[in-house]
Order: sequence, then C-alpha cells, then structure tokens
Amino acid sequence: MIIKKMIRRLMALILGPVINIRYFFYDFKQTINHSIILNNTEDKSKAQIMLAMHGIEKGLAFREKKQNWGGEKSIHLTRLLKEHLKKYGKSEVVVVALNILNAYLSDASSTKNENTRIEINQLLKDYQTDLKSYTGGAKVVSYPEFKAGYNDILQFYSTRTSVRDFSSREITEEEINRAKQIARTTPTACNRQTSRIHVFKDKETIRKILDNQWGDQGWGNNADTLFIVTSNLSYFGDTYERKQAYIDGGMFAMNFVMGLHTQKIASCFKMYISEPRMEKQFKKITQIPPQEAPIVLILAGYYLESSLSPVSYKIDI
Ligand SMILES: Cc1cc2nc3c(=O)[nH]c(=O)nc-3n(C[C@H](O)[C@H](O)[C@H](O)COP(=O)(O)O)c2cc1C
Repeated sequence: MIIKKMIRRLMALILGPVINIRYFFYDFKQTINHSIILNNTEDKSKAQIMLAMHGIEKGLAFREKKQNWGGEKSIHLTRLLKEHLKKYGKSEVVVVALNILNAYLSDASSTKNENTRIEINQLLKDYQTDLKSYTGGAKVVSYPEFKAGYNDILQFYSTRTSVRDFSSREITEEEINRAKQIARTTPTACNRQTSRIHVFKDKETIRKILDNQWGDQGWGNNADTLFIVTSNLSYFGDTYERKQAYIDGGMFAMNFVMGLHTQKIASCFKMYISEPRMEKQFKKITQIPPQEAPIVLILAGYYLESSLSPVSYKIDI
C-alpha cells in the first residue's frame, strides 16, 4: 500500500513537469498561430484597425492636445482601412473607424500636414453617408445619473449566488439578448471587444460538451442553456499581452451572468478545464473557431421554487 502510494507520488513528480511542458508548447503554438503578429486574417486586420482607432479616439479626449498631434497615427489607420476595405469590405468596425478619422480631421489641433489631410479625405469621400459624428470621437462625461441607491445595488449583487439546480422553464432568446446588452458594457483592453458567447440549448449537445472537458459533476444536466464565453486570440499581440484575453473574457463573463441575474435567471460558472487533445474535440463539437480561446462555461436556467446552494461565505478582504 505504502509502496504503491510512493510510486504514484513519484510518477506524479516526474510526469507533472512533462505534462506541463506539453501544455506550455500548446499554449505557445496557440499564441503564435493566432496572435495579431503573424499571418494576416480578417480578425487580425480588424484588430489592428481597432488598436489604431482607439489611439486616436483617446487622443481626441485628452484635455490638452499638442498642436499637430496624431498625424502618423491617422495615416497608419487610413492605410489599414484602405487595405482592409479592399480585402474584406465594409463592416461595423470600419464605419466606426471612418467616423473617428472624420472627428480627428475636425479637431482644431489635428495635423495641418496637407498630404495627410488629403489622403484621409480621399478615403472619407467615398463613405460620406456613413459619417455620423456620434459613432466615434470624444464624448462629454459628467456626474453619472442613475436611480438605484447603494443599498439597492448591494442587494442586487449579493442576491446573485451560484445555483446548480434549475426548473424546466426555458430561457428565451430575448432574455439572452438582454443579458448580452449588459455584457457589452464591459470595458476591454484597448476597446478590442474580443469576447463572444456561444449558446447551446440542445440537451444532447450540452451533455457532449460537458463530457469533453473535465470536472463535470452532473449538475449541468438540468440546466436549460449552456453558454460558453470565449475570447479571440487574434486581437492580441505579443507575449506581454498573453493573458489579456483571459482577463477580458472573465470580466465579460461576469457581466453576462449579472445580465442574467437582472432577469432573475439562475446560473453557475463551470471552469473550462482541458488538455490539448480534448480541446480539439471540444472545438469540433461546439464549432468554436480555432482562434477563440474558451474562457469559462456558464450553465443557466430558471430557479426552482426552492433549492439548496452552498453558503460560500465571503471573507473580509
Ligand atoms: C471562473 C469560475 C469557475 C467556476 N467553476 C466551477 C465549477 O467548475 N464547478 C462548480 O460547481 N462551481 C464553479 N464555480 C462556482 C464557484 O464555486 C462559486 O462562484 C463560489 O463558490 C462562490 O459562490 P457564489 O457564486 O455563490 O458566490 C466557478 C466560479 C468561477 C468564478
């Protein structure tokens, strides 16, 4: 018995680091393959546009601006847009970027360089109907107005608890969309907005998904809906940002859950625990694109008249 235990410990000691190295290389490959730096794809091209337009938008909101600021940045964005439009055509992100360039040209301190202004104007002239000042630039911010007081908000937050037992009442598409509207307010690194929610309703598919990651304890069986929150790795650049997708995705997931809670829909996060081979199968079943990293699962449904949940006492920090 003791010898068996010792052998098992020894194996874990030897195999642990070997497995870690395998996972490390998998993560490394994922980062390299999908990061913004290598091979241009539509996502990566959009990511570069979003980064460039965010830089200019921030410049527009500075209280004090240098004279002739942003010349290089605006030309960079203009050229990215021209290239992107040629390859992929117009999209929501492109329209916002065009509006930011338009707002930039109207800024009193923006570049006076004639060539730069001509090049930007040449691009904008083909999209005059898409230029509406409210989609990009700087907005006026003042003391926020909302009706709920501190106690209401504290009550709202503290009545959310993880629930693992659900009634058979269905969550509607409208309710999911409403939760999504709350999740969309989440701040993201450089406003890259890389998080997505994949929705599964079919019981058989939910079971397959739960079976193709670790840690299932069976309580997901009576959930009405399974949500998978992902972040798109193509929107992140170098190694310095390698954890950003997980931070953005986690914050987004939390707000999505609070969006469900606003509608009194119960839910519980489920860690996404996997290994490279399993992840391949998981992505095949879920049809999550290769560049999206699964962040967390959320199982949700309506409350039963009454059920039990752990107290999960919150320590004072
Ligand atoms: C990222 C994350 C992953 C989680 N994964 C699981 C899980 O795999 N299984 C589970 O039963 N609960 C899971 N939970 C729920 C936690 O156990 C729960 O949030 C915690 O105990 C605090 O309880 P509360 O949510 O009721 O405040 C997870 C929570 C988070 C935030």
